[in-house]
Amino acid sequence: MENFEQLKTVKFYSGETTPLEMHKVRVVQKLNLLPIEERKEAIFGAGFNTFLLQNKDVFLDMLTDSGTNAMSDNQVAAMSVADDSYAGSASYYKLEKAIKEVFNQQYFLPVHQGRAAEHIIAKTFCKPGTVVPMNYHFTTTKAHIEMMGSIVEEIYTDEALKTKSVFPFKGNMDIPKLNKVIEKWGAENVAYIRFEAGTNLIGGQPFSMANLREVSVIAKAHKIMLLMDTSLINENLYFIKIREEGYQNRPIVDILHEMLSYTDFSYFSGRKVSCTRGGGICTNNHDIYMKMRDWVPLYEGFLTYGGMSVREIEAMAVGLYETLDFNVISHSPTFIKYLVDALDKEGIPVITPAGGLGCHLNAGEFIPHVPQTQYPAGALAAALFVASGIRGMERGTISSVRDENGDDILADVELLRLAFPRRVFTLSQIKYAEDRIKWLYDNRELIGGLEWIEEPPVLRFFVGKLKPIGNWVDNLVAKFRADFGESL
Ligand code: F0G
Repeated sequence: MENFEQLKTVKFYSGETTPLEMHKVRVVQKLNLLPIEERKEAIFGAGFNTFLLQNKDVFLDMLTDSGTNAMSDNQVAAMSVADDSYAGSASYYKLEKAIKEVFNQQYFLPVHQGRAAEHIIAKTFCKPGTVVPMNYHFTTTKAHIEMMGSIVEEIYTDEALKTKSVFPFKGNMDIPKLNKVIEKWGAENVAYIRFEAGTNLIGGQPFSMANLREVSVIAKAHKIMLLMDTSLINENLYFIKIREEGYQNRPIVDILHEMLSYTDFSYFSGRKVSCTRGGGICTNNHDIYMKMRDWVPLYEGFLTYGGMSVREIEAMAVGLYETLDFNVISHSPTFIKYLVDALDKEGIPVITPAGGLGCHLNAGEFIPHVPQTQYPAGALAAALFVASGIRGMERGTISSVRDENGDDILADVELLRLAFPRRVFTLSQIKYAEDRIKWLYDNRELIGGLEWIEEPPVLRFFVGKLKPIGNWVDNLVAKFRADFGESL
């Protein structure tokens, strides 16, 4: 296996801590920054829902890091030698080798994306009367577990939901809470314990190896399986390496092998971890493998492609090896930290410490005058798009549901997520984001709330449409013109 380690960081003479791109750009995609009047029209056309914007109207697409990461030259090259065959493709065996070497896992089941792995795992191991304890849920994970009649118990620590914190491992599990859940349900009714790396919905926050080790001891003592979602493993590895005592001088491959040695099985979304598409389930346990194996040809495709194209499989194999390159896994977190720290210094409410997925603006504190029933995170997402052409994702009450009386179940926190697709944006683009967020914060009193015009009964955040309450968008546009003149 190629040695990817290169841990040297670059110090600037000026003393500034400026993140530096350790790659050069050789293929580019033209961006379009519409004038603010056209951005306003676009957001009205999209029903104030950033999911419904057309990408041609977007300047920086920070909706998600899923399937939007930049591939390396080696990944693109690998795609051109893909071996097209339904069964036994040579491309598949390259991927299987990568799974063995990078993850140290002997058995692999390919699937078309992360949620397909969640489907097969939940279908195999969850049933009514069982529980799945986890550090925090992801939307699709929870939906699959609940669809099988099982219950999700979240056992995050008190630090996890604190928006301002310096705690380095907000993705940790609360050990006393885990013991209580096992006691309450009985170990035999715990389908498995799920540990999510780079915990998405609390802001891309990592767990520590020490915490994982403790959880694994408990799981083993009770003969409960431990599952890891490794979709966001890159940045979790980075954080363990730089923040956890004893790991600074350990090769990334060793850290990864140690992590997975504590698990019984794991799965990943290739849309994140390998900068491709696709996904898979990995294990060293033959029984676990055999229990799930036959669902793959039924739901995904034959065992040597699992719904992925062979080109994707080639790129995934290369992308997995690149996960062991410090320059690759440090890129996103250092750029995210740059923006989070800059905003935090200005007193703009962001989730701290910076995580590994994106910058999360705390809309509840950004525009406290907008009540939660008027969807501050959605309003801020729309306002930022109008002010800058940047598309983020609402992670607040619009992403929630209504109770049996038809009232909104208010979100714990109203967040606007600005995801950082890996190796996609340059530092000047991030500085532009910083500048426009600062302007918006200084003009925050102009931002108003939203109300529904079309509210779907399920997963309303994807395709629902809203409109502004009052004419605050016009006021925002007028202020922009007054401050920026003819500027885009
Ligand atoms: N697990 C985690 C931690 C995820 O973040 C995601 C997807 C999945 C599983 C599902 O994988 O999309 O390949 O089916 N997260 C995306 C996001 C959708 O925008 O954060 P998938």
